[in-house]
Parts: sequence; C-alpha cells; structure tokens
Amino acid sequence: MESTLDFHTAKALLDWQVELGATEAILDAPVNRYEIPEKKVKSSPAQCQQSAPVREPKVDPLEIAQQMAKQAANLDQLKSAIAQFEHCALKRGARSLVFSDGHPSARVMIIGEAPGRDEDRIGRPFVGRAGQLLDKMLAAIDMDRTAEATDEAVYITNVLPWRPPQNRDPQPEEIFMMMPFVKRHVELVDPDVVVLMGNIACHGVLGKRGITRLRGQWTEALDRPVLPMFHPAFLLRSPHMKREAWADLIELKAKLLSLK
Ligand code: URA
Repeated sequence: MESTLDFHTAKALLDWQVELGATEAILDAPVNRYEIPEKKVKSSPAQCQQSAPVREPKVDPLEIAQQMAKQAANLDQLKSAIAQFEHCALKRGARSLVFSDGHPSARVMIIGEAPGRDEDRIGRPFVGRAGQLLDKMLAAIDMDRTAEATDEAVYITNVLPWRPPQNRDPQPEEIFMMMPFVKRHVELVDPDVVVLMGNIACHGVLGKRGITRLRGQWTEALDRPVLPMFHPAFLLRSPHMKREAWADLIELKAKLLSLK
C-alpha cells in the first residue's frame, strides 16, 4: 500500500518512535522483494490503449556479484563494489558495511558469519563479546589483529558485510549472493591459510554445515588450506567446547610452521 503521509508527518512519527526507544527500522519478517507483485505503471488514457504491462528486466544477483567482484583490482575497489551492490536486502537494514579488520598481508585470513549489533555500530568485524574471545584465542598462539609482522598478523572478514535484522541466521540465498565477493576478497589478500569460523562460513565456502564434524579437519578450498573451527559466539554459549578450539588453534599454528 502506498503511503499517503507527507514528509513532515512521517518524520514526526519516526522521531516519536525513536523517543519511545526504537533503535532499528525492521519488519516482523523479512520481505522477499522478488515475490512482490510488479507495480502497475500509472499511465495516461492514451497509453492505456496499448496497456502492455511494463516488466522489470530480470536480474541475477549472483551473476551481478560475480561481475562486480571480478572487476575489483584491489581491496578498496572490492569494498566500493560491495557498497554499490544493491541486491542483498540486508544492506537496507544495516547501519554499516562491515568489510574487514587486521593486516592485509597476514598469513591467516579468518572468515566469520555476519556483523552483530556492535560490529554494525562500529563498522569493524568481531568487536563484540565474540570478537573479544577471538582476540584471546589468537593471543594464545601469539597472533594479533593489530600486529604488523605477517607471522603474527591476522586478517578478518565475514561472509556477509551487513548485519541481519535481530541477528537472525543469514538465509542461503544471502550467503550465496555474497560469495563472489568473499572469494575475490580471499584472492586479493592471498593468505597462506583460511580459517572458517562456524557453520555459516562453512556453508558459504565448502557448501556444507556440521561444524562439530568439520572442525579441526584441514580441507582444500579457495585454492589453499582451509580450517573450520567453532565460532567464538558458540564457545561463549558452550565453554566446555573450548578444549576442541584450543586443539584447533594448535593445529593452525603447526600448519603455519609447516608451510614456511
Ligand atoms: N560474529 C561474526 O561472525 N562476525 C562478526 O563480525 C561478529 C560476530
């Protein structure tokens, strides 16, 4: 239904909701914009005689993402390409495009899931509670996202650069649509190894879930060794699994030494 509100009334209503404490503009359920019926174009009586329905050209978001990602020659261009990509509805509900953190020459690239509330607010990945645990895990093997030395440095990104509303799980179509950008991101950073944090990263990169089975097992993907690990947010909820995460960190360190 088209709104009949004028700008000032709509703004006053929005201000009122903000005063009441609303912090996010979201709906009860995500809108699948591909399923919204085509709008009838208002036409003059003369145009009505020819009244052929005006069809939007069909677009394939995956194909567009592939083209845009391929054209990015460096990380700045990749970030701009993602900023210009209009086919993922998450973009419209998010405050920030959360691209990456850490050192682009790092030997280790970590791929997480999607920004949460803190990441969306600050614009950097893994800065909330899960990120603090990630920093502690990395420190345990002498690695640090702020390090300059390539041996100690890490580079961090997510499958999705925009926060899903209310931190819901990303949908498969959102994951697949954004994967060309993730793949190009890995190509441009060209790390020795990639760590996949949790099921969503495994789904995007390996096409499968089941982190309890996958974790700790090196596999080849994105033209390099890839290690699935438990997501730090999961470890916060299940601290008894930290023993496995510790084993995986040792495994990561050993791999880096063996690749030298
Ligand atoms: N969880 C993620 O997977 N990524 C973030 O950036 C924050 C939390």
